[in-house]
Amino acid sequence: MARYDKEISQAAEILMKAKRAAAFCGSGISAESGISTFRDPGGIWDRLDLAEVGTADGLMSVLAHDPGRLMPVFLELLDAFENADANPGHAALADLERMGILGTVITQNIDNLQHEAGSGDVIEVHGNLFRMVCLGCGAQKKFERKPLVADIRQKLGLMKYFSLAELAALVPRCGACGALMRPDIVMFGEAVKDLDRAFEASRECDAMLVLGTSGIVYPAAALPYESKQKGAPIIVVNPNENAFFDISDVYVPMKTGEALPAIVGKIRKKAL
Ligand code: APR
Repeated sequence: MARYDKEISQAAEILMKAKRAAAFCGSGISAESGISTFRDPGGIWDRLDLAEVGTADGLMSVLAHDPGRLMPVFLELLDAFENADANPGHAALADLERMGILGTVITQNIDNLQHEAGSGDVIEVHGNLFRMVCLGCGAQKKFERKPLVADIRQKLGLMKYFSLAELAALVPRCGACGALMRPDIVMFGEAVKDLDRAFEASRECDAMLVLGTSGIVYPAAALPYESKQKGAPIIVVNPNENAFFDISDVYVPMKTGEALPAIVGKIRKKAL
């Protein structure tokens, strides 16, 4: 009997009845791909000052005046993004979509891994690090994650010092107008993306999976409460304390990379 088998079975029971479940994901679902979460001990906000580099202005200011300070964490994140692959947690969500159980995955993550796991309906409320948007004409271009990161690492390795101009040269230029591009991600203080669609999916779902998120950052963190209010059962998967424990109908204190494949396995067994 696996640990938490009762909770896994309860979650499977709920999802077997679902036709358009939704999932709300945070950095915890990518932790097993080797990408650091934000608020776990040793996480990104333990090593970078959110107040200083969490906004676009703040980040640009540090890059202009003291970029070397960010380099150790920046290089480590590049390493993680270059080596990461979608993990069994991401894959289980793609399975649930193919099984006709899961509709939309709403993710706060910018790592592209849910797309790479094969999910078709993904809302990236905080954007995508590998989709660039032109600062001149607004044109967008999606890049392959690993080659782009390898290219940036290679250029960075040749730099003696990190001037803002040199760092800006790391990012691809717009093919349409030649202007600078920036990753199409949402920094603190910027508008969250596709929020209407995310709220609609949260209101209309017949079950909500809340996966690997501390539930601290709004407006995204409001989404599971919308589902709860509409009567959808809430399944939380997170090994640690988080904001959604109190609204959970089933709480699975496990890693998503272990719990989600176990839930899919249970559904498949019961469906036989
Ligand atoms: N499986 C499931 N959950 C996990 C795992 C795992 N393997 N590892 C860690 N967790 C949980 C932690 O217990 C924590 O509750 O994932 C959660 C991660 O929380 P945060 O680090 O706060 O990340 P997240 O909730 O995604 O942050 C939301 O904050 O900084 C902003 O824009 C950033 O999108 C991010 C937002």
